Amino acid sequence: MAGAEGARNSAAGWRNPLRDKRDKRLPRIAGPCGVVIFGVTGDLARRKLMPAIYDLANRGLLPPTFALVGFARRDWADEDFADVVYQAVKQHARTPFRQVVWDRLAAGFRFVTGSFDDDAAFARLAETLEQLDSERGTGGNHAFYLSIPPAAFPVVCEKLHASGLARPREGRWSRVVIEKPFGHDLSSAVELNNVLNSVFPEESVFRIDHYLGKETVQNILALRFANQLFDPIWNAHYVDHVQITMAEDIGLGGRAGYYDGIGAARDVIQNHLLQLLALTAMEEPVSFSPAELQTEKIKVLSATRLAQPLDETTSRGQYAGGWQGGERVVGLLEEDGFAEDSRTETFAAITLEVDTRRWAGVPFYLRSGKRLGRRVTEIALVFKRAPHLPFDATMTDELGKNALVIRVQPDEGITLRFGSKVPGHLMEVRDVNMDFSYGSAFSEDSPEAYERLILDVLLGEPSLFPVNAEVELSWEILDPVLENWAEHGRPEPYQAGTWGPPSSFEMLTRSGREWRRP
Ligand code: BG6
Repeated sequence: MAGAEGARNSAAGWRNPLRDKRDKRLPRIAGPCGVVIFGVTGDLARRKLMPAIYDLANRGLLPPTFALVGFARRDWADEDFADVVYQAVKQHARTPFRQVVWDRLAAGFRFVTGSFDDDAAFARLAETLEQLDSERGTGGNHAFYLSIPPAAFPVVCEKLHASGLARPREGRWSRVVIEKPFGHDLSSAVELNNVLNSVFPEESVFRIDHYLGKETVQNILALRFANQLFDPIWNAHYVDHVQITMAEDIGLGGRAGYYDGIGAARDVIQNHLLQLLALTAMEEPVSFSPAELQTEKIKVLSATRLAQPLDETTSRGQYAGGWQGGERVVGLLEEDGFAEDSRTETFAAITLEVDTRRWAGVPFYLRSGKRLGRRVTEIALVFKRAPHLPFDATMTDELGKNALVIRVQPDEGITLRFGSKVPGHLMEVRDVNMDFSYGSAFSEDSPEAYERLILDVLLGEPSLFPVNAEVELSWEILDPVLENWAEHGRPEPYQAGTWGPPSSFEMLTRSGREWRRP
């Protein structure tokens, strides 16, 4: 393999699918390796990471010699750690529990007690990994999963470097996996990336955005680029606007430590929602190689900017008490751990413009919030009205705009909304839905996003991980909103169980549009 392509492919250990004649349906199984989780006592590790590792083992996708090492301050023995993983797997694993799989997996569990700045603990970690390499056969290949507060990233990276763990032996690999948020604005993200890249080369850094691991999100690429039907209308000639909604019904009880001071825009718009926008708005990549895919995402994010003036094109809110699912729920300010005068927004909405030939003049509305009407994530392309309606005006009262809705979750699928004649003797037209649903179209269950992403880390496949440039561009887009909000008092309250504050609705009604009621 010659030239730039050869360099790129070998650097990331990636194989060109066009040249690779292996049957892609064969399972992808990780080679000998071990994973170290920092922050192993946290919620994410318990709810997502440990169960995903078990599910991968259960599906036969981990090597029999796999090892999992927990690192935290608790004074745990290996058995205590195994017990914690066991409980997590029992509660949250997607696939059935099988004793034989568990026994084989648990034989590779180790725990190292220590704080993030403790040299001696990192020396013990290095020793443990060496032992696992020789006794269990993990082959000197290690992924360090940093499920820890961002403030701790630099010190952990530095200790991994000082203890020699960041530099793999010849022919082996060391990879670092980091959870968002990658900084809290552009300048802190640049700093963080500098620290990371001073220890790990960029191809060894895997930034997790778990939305990219979701089947429905990857299906955006299939929908757009495997079909002839949609591309001709996927542009400003036909699309009136795009709405990207990520709504959650849960509140923030128990998450103050992470969320207070962060807020909805940093928590999910900077990453998940801008990635959804990038996949929806980007041009067709030359191939699905990591480099080509990233090139297109970077191009479209570079062309994306905030619509102005921000006071009219953005909205932020904070949930107050209310009713949800028949239960009385408290407002954010009464949740444990939040400052009494917290200004953290639990709802954020912004309007973006994508300055390209394809999208000029089409607003992209992004919104996300906690304690909203229900849990739903969707991308809706709302089309322009037909230029002329040869019907009696009263016959089209109930005809809205056509829409193509990618239902990311729950009830994963796609809906096409269009007008249809109401049965009867009048030529009355009303909106109807045509649905594709994963549940009924496929018998296979979708793997959890974290299963897919952890396996990709172990295989060294970076396609589904945003690179440095994407993270920085996303902050560049969002920073002016955050600065604007910081200058303006408190977020607007909205009642739990509703769809956000009035300013969110005004954002759209100003241009004669409205949010979809998912
Ligand atoms: C995380 C956010 O990235 O995504 C959380 O930090 C949010 O605040 C979560 O609840 C939602 O993930 P999912 O996969 O349930 O939509």
